[in-house]
Amino acid sequence: KKVVLAYSGGLDTSAIIPWLKENYAGCEVYAFVANVGQDPKELIDVEKKAKASGAVACRVVDLREEFVKDYVYPVLKTGALYEGTYYLGTSMARPIIAKAQVEYALEVGADALCHGATGKGNDQVRFETTYTALAPQLKVIAPWREWDLRSREALIDYLKQRKIPTTATIEKIYSRDENAWHISTEGGVLESTWNEANADCWAWTVSPEDAPNKAELVTIGIEKGEVVSVNGKKLSPYNCVATLNKIGAKHGVGRVDIIENRLVGIKSRGCYETPGGTIMMTALRGLEQLVLDRDSFKWREQLGLEMAYVVYDGRWFAPYRRSLQASAEVLAEDVNGEVVVKLYKGNATAIQKKSPNSLYNEEFATFGEDDVYDHSHAGGFIRLFSLSSRIRALNEEASKKT
Ligand code: ARG
Ligand code: SIN
Repeated sequence: KKVVLAYSGGLDTSAIIPWLKENYAGCEVYAFVANVGQDPKELIDVEKKAKASGAVACRVVDLREEFVKDYVYPVLKTGALYEGTYYLGTSMARPIIAKAQVEYALEVGADALCHGATGKGNDQVRFETTYTALAPQLKVIAPWREWDLRSREALIDYLKQRKIPTTATIEKIYSRDENAWHISTEGGVLESTWNEANADCWAWTVSPEDAPNKAELVTIGIEKGEVVSVNGKKLSPYNCVATLNKIGAKHGVGRVDIIENRLVGIKSRGCYETPGGTIMMTALRGLEQLVLDRDSFKWREQLGLEMAYVVYDGRWFAPYRRSLQASAEVLAEDVNGEVVVKLYKGNATAIQKKSPNSLYNEEFATFGEDDVYDHSHAGGFIRLFSLSSRIRALNEEASKKT
């Protein structure tokens, strides 16, 4: 029997390898590592590490460009923010990791898929929903729902007993997830909602208090709702994000500290850092103000609201997601132009915008003379627009008299 494990090189997935071999007798474990833009240090010697833990093979795949181009950018067009603030960094990474893992599994002729997400979270749902959508014939193994290893200490002991080397220490306090788009931090001091997130909860960004006293302007070039250049330089999607992450982090941009509703019903506290994403979102939404008419704007907001739940819940490979996406693509056709975003002590503000598709017209908006808009027409418009109110009021008056 062959099992393909979504492996990170961390403590949990390292322990899963021997655990699988002991609990699914005679199975061979194939480790699959997705490079989605996490700290490159985590990828050093990761193949060696997987084999030292007992994997028969290890495959590392660079998904960075695909992640940003085919997962992040499409979601960004819809404006999706989960519960109003979370940029969905972890949620978007799970389907692409699971998809690539399935591809590896089919290639090696595996019988089962395995992941290291706990039984309490969203990630298990996202992994398994993707597995089911793409390879329903494969068995799914979720060790966290089966084993009785409940602490870091227990996991370290488990590896020690089996003489498997690990550099993990007991006091890793946070649960972190990092990719090209964001880093998330949960656990540790954050578990009490009365604790302020302290300096070591934040991994990428400086605190706004420590950010430069001088604002920085960054020019974002946008084509069909996608960021294509930074400060006049054309870059690949991944490089746009990477560049903006650096610039934003310096100014303390993109920090979010929230209590969110997990799909499984529990609330959790998380700190998210999405500096480049925050700049991009600011620029895109700023440009939409110029090009989307009122109905389109409202529709885009509704698409964003729906998309946030679809992505958070891991329904990436579903017709509903594709249909929302298709709508957003239509609206994005006019989202072309340039936005200057000002970064200053944690804030990102769109201060200049222009677009060849702009519907904004100084001549119409002006408080001075113009010849498309005749003030006297507004009176008739309001009379019809408010007609139902007038009728109701007249009725009420009439009924008072009888
Ligand atoms: N709460 C966030 C989400 O559900 C982040 C999850 C982080 N995952 C992790 N394995 N540390 O998307
Ligand atoms: C986990 O439980 O594995 C991480 C948190 C989450 O998935 O929500």
